[in-house]
Amino acid sequence: MDSTNENDRIEFDLILQAIYQKYGYDFRDYAKASIRRRLRNQLSKSNLKTISEMQHKLLNDKNFFDRLLLDLTINVTEMFRDPPFFKAIREIVLSELKKQPFIKVWHAGCSSGEEIYSTAILLKEYGVYESSLIYATDTNELVLDKAKAGIFPIEKMKDYTVNYRKAGGLASFADYYTARYDNAIMDNSLKKNIVFSNHNLVTDSVFGEMDLIMCRNVLIYFNRELQDRVFRLFRDSFHPDGFLCLGSKETVRFSSLSEDFENVIENEKIYRRIVSH
Ligand SMILES: C[S@@+](CC[C@H](N)C(=O)[O-])C[C@H]1O[C@@H](n2cnc3c(N)ncnc32)[C@H](O)[C@@H]1O
Repeated sequence: MDSTNENDRIEFDLILQAIYQKYGYDFRDYAKASIRRRLRNQLSKSNLKTISEMQHKLLNDKNFFDRLLLDLTINVTEMFRDPPFFKAIREIVLSELKKQPFIKVWHAGCSSGEEIYSTAILLKEYGVYESSLIYATDTNELVLDKAKAGIFPIEKMKDYTVNYRKAGGLASFADYYTARYDNAIMDNSLKKNIVFSNHNLVTDSVFGEMDLIMCRNVLIYFNRELQDRVFRLFRDSFHPDGFLCLGSKETVRFSSLSEDFENVIENEKIYRRIVSH
């Protein structure tokens, strides 16, 4: 490795260490290329010249850190993202889960909540919302606040209605929100059984007895070791036979926990926890 590259690596490692020690957010096991790209991005947006200068700023300016945090925890999301996935949840997963008296769902890395409200709508349409509880967690307080508010730009509703229909939705999507000026305010009846909470997949522990865990488009930003940690966390958070859902570019297959899960729906990253007998 030439010395510029090595110095670069050291500087990046130091800044991640500094963030961890100062603010408790641990990005050290996130996929390096993506984290570095985001740090460089932030550097070019600020008036700072080097990563070391940025480190000093980060340690002394919480607002600067908050802005960087938004960039580091990519929060892109949408309602009924990947409609065939939600169709499979509707037609296959929920028809299994509805046999149970109570359904516990965990959305880990829920971002601003579009995915949670999508699931709440499915549970409602399946007639099981009243006997369900959704835990919605993320490590980023700002997006979690948006999720709690359940207010989304009205201009997005057109696309979301298309997604909803493709996901098998038959009702009128507009019945699930009230339009006010530029916003769509999600119906309170969808929020009733959602518990919002700050939870960090890197540092926090298990959530008990889940029937369905959705962690989509989160693990893609983690390295293999961190992915394994999270799969272990999920394995230990399941009710027997629980379902695990990942994003389209994510898989359990290469993990050291691959034996604990089987892919149960072709073409979808929907797995089931294998219970050893
Ligand atoms: C790209 S969004 C995915 C949102 C949604 N699951 C979806 O697929 O549309 C990734 C989310 O993971 C969250 N995240 C990143 N690192 C996390 C961690 N260590 N623990 C919990 N959430 C995390 C980010 O804050 C962000 O909201």
